[in-house]
Amino acid sequence: ISDWTKVEALNDSLESKWVRIRGVAQTIRAVGKKMAFVVIRENGFTVQCVVQVQPDQVSPQMVKYVTALSRESIVDLEGVVSVPGSPIKGASQQVEIQVRKLYCVDRAVPTLPINIEDAARSEIEIEKALQAGEQLVRVNQDTRLNYRVLDIRTPANQGIFRIQSHVGNAFRQFLLSEGFVEIHTPKLIAGSSEGGAAVFRLDYKGQPACLAQSPQLHKQMSICGGLGRVFEIGPVFRAEDSFTHRHLCEFTGLDVEMEIKMHYFEVMDIVDRLFVAIFDSLNDNCQKYLEAVGRQYPFEPLKYLRQTLRLTFEEGVQMLKDAGVEVDPLGDLNTESERKLGQIVLEKYGTEFYILHRYPLAVRPFYTMPCPDNPAYSNSFDVFIRGEEIISGAQRVHKAEFLEKRAAACGIDVKTIATYIDSFRYGAFPHGGFGVGLERVVMLFCGLNNIRKTSLYPRDPLRLAP
Ligand code: 4AD
Repeated sequence: ISDWTKVEALNDSLESKWVRIRGVAQTIRAVGKKMAFVVIRENGFTVQCVVQVQPDQVSPQMVKYVTALSRESIVDLEGVVSVPGSPIKGASQQVEIQVRKLYCVDRAVPTLPINIEDAARSEIEIEKALQAGEQLVRVNQDTRLNYRVLDIRTPANQGIFRIQSHVGNAFRQFLLSEGFVEIHTPKLIAGSSEGGAAVFRLDYKGQPACLAQSPQLHKQMSICGGLGRVFEIGPVFRAEDSFTHRHLCEFTGLDVEMEIKMHYFEVMDIVDRLFVAIFDSLNDNCQKYLEAVGRQYPFEPLKYLRQTLRLTFEEGVQMLKDAGVEVDPLGDLNTESERKLGQIVLEKYGTEFYILHRYPLAVRPFYTMPCPDNPAYSNSFDVFIRGEEIISGAQRVHKAEFLEKRAAACGIDVKTIATYIDSFRYGAFPHGGFGVGLERVVMLFCGLNNIRKTSLYPRDPLRLAP
């Protein structure tokens, strides 16, 4: 046989067929000297394989060899698919393989720092197991991240990173179909692009430089250059000192910038259609991965409307006030008030995904366009999933002199962004855009409680490895 079958594809339509698979030996259980059960896992899907002594087919030595394998070793095996009479516990696929040949491709060390079965259990399963007096080690987050190559092997993590890949692809496909151009901007830049102190500074051949806090300046410059509509998927660096469930020092930014003809609502229209397309695509194409995540971390599917709800910041403040939460009408919302507003919006409008726009100018970056009718506010917006921010966006200032003034007013050293400001002196298109945090989208779509779960190798103030 030349083909390999994927564990995921094993079902009763293959009954009596000869298959060849490669996977990880998740558990190995001997039953006397003549039989062993091996659960093989591939991409989070598992199948029970039976190695039983049979004259001319399977020798007692082979059973002995299998029994001595270490967990998590990589094995190739060949055999015949069978359908047992009763449901199989402890494997995702409801067929077995009667093994005829088995080779160990690579042997794992005998003692592992993480037991994958334990690491894959939900809180409810852990509680039940502990109550039943089972010996199990609760795997904490730091241990998981220290041994991430093992932790990634759980079905939930296999799902999370496939979902993440799907979000990036759906983002790219939608924007390409709308005439956007994918760009790649430098990550080594001369100064801060978002203002504030959260910048990783470095020495660039004797010149002070930093890691880009966003592609903001260069994506805007690309619009000045006449590219019309651009997007980028790339790393974003923030020297965050915050130890929160939603801040990383490096994350993946999904950035968009586009010419606008009349109004910043044109940018919000793209957000609206883009995210409805991404969510629909996840629900249509990633069900098995979403289920794998939900088995370990139970969550409700995201509630979103066909046309995304838009509220002004002032309306949001009023809704909070009506609910007894006082916030500064010209300040920013803190995490708690954002959550509270999310709950109010869900109760009132039945959606967990919405846009809040017309933010106070004082809480937005220097490049944000003030509202023409009231400069205390700005042509800007944030977007929320389940009460937490995933996007911020705005129309940008496109007049060089005004931009210079705004940068200086926000305490930015204009010299460090001189080439950016100059690019608006040669005739600049009115434009706007937004930035999305990929890890946050996946975290919140899946109702997860920590961004480290959706970052493959997270970087936070205390973590630079693996
Ligand atoms: O709100 P931010 O800082 O906005 C910008 O970077 C602008 N240049 C975007 C624009 O086009 N106007 O970041 C955008 C998004 C946030 O909404 C959040 O989802 C994510 O990036 N984000 C982070 N994700 C993980 N860790 C952090 N430290 C993040 N900071 C922002």
